[in-house]
Amino acid sequence: MSVHRENRKITVTDIRARKGGDPLVCLTAYTSLTAQLLDENIDLLLVGDSLGMVLYGLEDTLGVTLDMMIAHGKAVMRGANKACVIVDMPFGSYQESPAVAFRNAARVMKEVGCAGVKLEGGREMASTIDFLTKRGIPVLAHVGLLPQSVNTAGGFRSHGKEDDEASGILADAVAVAEAGAFASVVEGTIEPLARTITETIAIPTIGIGASPACDGQILVTEDLVGLFSDFTPKFVKRYADLGQQIADAAKSYSEDVRSGRFPGPEHCFGMRRTDEDAE
Ligand code: KIV
Repeated sequence: MSVHRENRKITVTDIRARKGGDPLVCLTAYTSLTAQLLDENIDLLLVGDSLGMVLYGLEDTLGVTLDMMIAHGKAVMRGANKACVIVDMPFGSYQESPAVAFRNAARVMKEVGCAGVKLEGGREMASTIDFLTKRGIPVLAHVGLLPQSVNTAGGFRSHGKEDDEASGILADAVAVAEAGAFASVVEGTIEPLARTITETIAIPTIGIGASPACDGQILVTEDLVGLFSDFTPKFVKRYADLGQQIADAAKSYSEDVRSGRFPGPEHCFGMRRTDEDAE
């Protein structure tokens, strides 16, 4: 069945209603230009805190600030007409208490004008999700591998192979759904666990490294187009090699400038004609 895309912004209610329906197609966006390029074909654009690593060259996402997220959120909003734009809450901006989370999330909603926020965590974040959603802030949850907990969770690895861990992640997904999240990212879990979560909870699951057994998929756009190649996780499919194309273009440009081939007469304003040209 083909997806009918109306010419209006997709809301969190639309996303929520896609449970078990046409797969949700989601990507990250950090800039206005990228948002413009993706908007037509994407249901949900996430201004992910992965921008710390992808755009700013940080080692992990922990150094990302609320101001960075707000600046990039505003840029993405300027480029997105239809896609539902969600902004990640960065590390330290919501974990302390529901009240702190509300203050910071409300700032994001007011200044960016996005449709909602995303925050990482399961059972320990359920009371915060409940607090935010009851006060008008839609929340996209994020369970499984939690990049902001990389220091306590023991690095990036797939989750759910051990029974204890799998039942904990399932309990996390149930908790965030019951707390009022409109959907949940499920990151880095083995297929049987992603399937069980998707079959158990009433909200859409959006997988990243979590198999096709989810209600939708999300990837980091720079991974998808081959722009970010510090490492390429197993779960990424590359659809373009823009990084190589940019490097090749810079090489050709440098050769042209050094040899005097660029700029040519066709790139110049009011260039004085040489005697040869005049003949
Ligand atoms: O920060 C991010 O980009 C994310 C997605 C990869 C889900 O959290």
